[in-house]
Amino acid sequence: MEVQWIGVQPLRLGTPNVAFNLIFSLLFGVWSAQALEMSVGKIPFLEAVNGSTVVLPCTYASCIGIKNLYFNWQFNDNGTMIKVCESVIASEGVKPDVSIYRERVDFVGKNHENNISIMLWNITFEDGGQYTCFGRNPKEKDKNHSAIFHLIVVDELRVVDNTLTIMIASAVGGAIALLMGFMLLKNLTLFILAKLEEKNKECLVTSSGIDNTENGLSGSKADSKPTPKKK
Ligand SMILES: *[C@@H]1O[C@H](CO)[C@@H](O)[C@H](O)[C@H]1NC(C)=O
Ligand SMILES: *[C@@H]1O[C@H](CO)[C@@H](O)[C@H](O)[C@H]1NC(C)=O
Ligand SMILES: *[C@@H]1O[C@H](CO)[C@@H](O)[C@H](O)[C@H]1NC(C)=O
Ligand SMILES: *[C@@H]1O[C@H](CO)[C@@H](O)[C@H](O)[C@H]1NC(C)=O
Ligand SMILES: *[C@@H]1O[C@H](CO)[C@@H](O)[C@H](O)[C@H]1NC(C)=O
Repeated sequence: MEVQWIGVQPLRLGTPNVAFNLIFSLLFGVWSAQALEMSVGKIPFLEAVNGSTVVLPCTYASCIGIKNLYFNWQFNDNGTMIKVCESVIASEGVKPDVSIYRERVDFVGKNHENNISIMLWNITFEDGGQYTCFGRNPKEKDKNHSAIFHLIVVDELRVVDNTLTIMIASAVGGAIALLMGFMLLKNLTLFILAKLEEKNKECLVTSSGIDNTENGLSGSKADSKPTPKKK
């Protein structure tokens, strides 16, 4: 215990007291457990269209510094972890030589500001799934650290929203179509009724015409009377 303190104590504490030491050791315990942290960002998933090119983000942070940090990316293929790439970063800011085991993968992070992101070119549906960004820092007794990123490959972006939009659009469109159809039908019916009425009148006219031939004047009177009423 005491050996670990020697380096830390003079920085933070003037005169050590027992209670403070206890709290500090607890804090130090937590702190050392989180010495290396892998992060895939605030949004640990991405939805992308097949055929597009994506970046799988990952950065590491270590408050005790790194030396020969081992890292890799793994793809969870039905429970089997398949290594995508791996390398050892000698020290901070050094660009590592990365071994890549998968097609269409580039190491784009270049360890610039602890960035170990990779790029996936021309993604296929088989590329969709869980990717683990893994790191191990020999400086902290080879503890394992990782962060998981999900890649979702879709045929078209926002499929769910689209169906909803289509549903709404078709519902509204359908309602409008129905209304228009109804109005058209109504107008058509009125038109046909008017036509029929006209026909009937014609029929009346012809019949009255027939009547005319029989009754002479009476038929012409019946024909002229209804027209002024309707107009
Ligand atoms: C995505 O997949 C669909 C169906 O497999 C295919 O028709 C389409 O061409 C693909 N798109 C791209 C950009 O590869
Ligand atoms: C994963 O497992 C399922 C069911 O066991 C199988 O249908 C599918 O083809 C497998 N996918 C891959 C990529 O092996
Ligand atoms: C991605 O696809 C484009 C167009 O099909 C092709 O020109 C390019 O070489 C592909 N890139 C990789 C890394 O496969
Ligand atoms: C890491 O590098 C990639 C590729 O250059 C970039 O898209 C991403 O924004 C970087 N991430 C951070 C946290 O700097
Ligand atoms: C860390 O991960 C390696 C595999 O990469 C495993 O062999 C080892 O047991 C793990 N160590 C701990 C402490 O979990």
